[in-house]
Amino acid sequence: MSEKAIRPFDLTGFKQRGEKLVCLTAYDFLAAEILDESGVDLVLVGDSLANVVMGHNNTFQIGMPEIIHHLKAVSAGVARALLVADLPFLSYQVSAELALQNAGELMRLGAKAVKLEGSSPRICETISRLVEAGIPVIGHIGYMPQSDGLLGERKVCAEDSQALLAQALALQAAGVCALVIELIPRQVSKEITEALKIPTIGIGCGEYCDGQILVLDDMLGKTKNNFRFLKRYAELRATMQAAVKDYAREVKESSFPSPKQSF
Ligand code: KIV
Repeated sequence: MSEKAIRPFDLTGFKQRGEKLVCLTAYDFLAAEILDESGVDLVLVGDSLANVVMGHNNTFQIGMPEIIHHLKAVSAGVARALLVADLPFLSYQVSAELALQNAGELMRLGAKAVKLEGSSPRICETISRLVEAGIPVIGHIGYMPQSDGLLGERKVCAEDSQALLAQALALQAAGVCALVIELIPRQVSKEITEALKIPTIGIGCGEYCDGQILVLDDMLGKTKNNFRFLKRYAELRATMQAAVKDYAREVKESSFPSPKQSF
């Protein structure tokens, strides 16, 4: 693992040498510091903070103020990983000018790239404008929480492989430096990954992607989420509950603090 900070244009190098990209979300300083020290390649201040931090059941109830608040904290903890911030709902869909202003603000606060959802001609035009202005962009297709979430259902993308491939190629042509693909069948993800020069970063897309991303609190077992694509690498919810219960019991029975913890 190189100690050098990863830059957006390094992402394609990972794909070329067959090195998988390890990506996770973070919403606060401590989490960011732990991920960075653990060798994560890309840290995303995702708009999933709406669910994980704010307790909403969708991502469109948050805007720039929330992303900015958490980006400032995460930015303080990241040195090596590529720091990416999500452009939240309606921060880029209204006009390319608004997208430029908002993406520019995230870059000034420490993001090294922004991520946005969609692949329509209008979105591709916005991406080209951002890239032309020097702002690296990561695309996102398949299940897209900001738009599909409005319909309320999280499900595997039913679009045919040719349509998804066309979307991916249009985003590559627009200038994205990587592409997040979410909830796409693994064979389709394979086709997309093989067709692109830029890396794909999958969530719920199987093993053929150039990298993988998960929501940190899901993989640490802090949330109650139980998606089929999710693997829980720890059970922190249970660990935290046990610790808090021990503390509560000891406070109630006056065994904490003991003389050892007193002056
Ligand atoms: O907001 C988010 O956390 C995301 C990832 C899951 C890709 O977009």
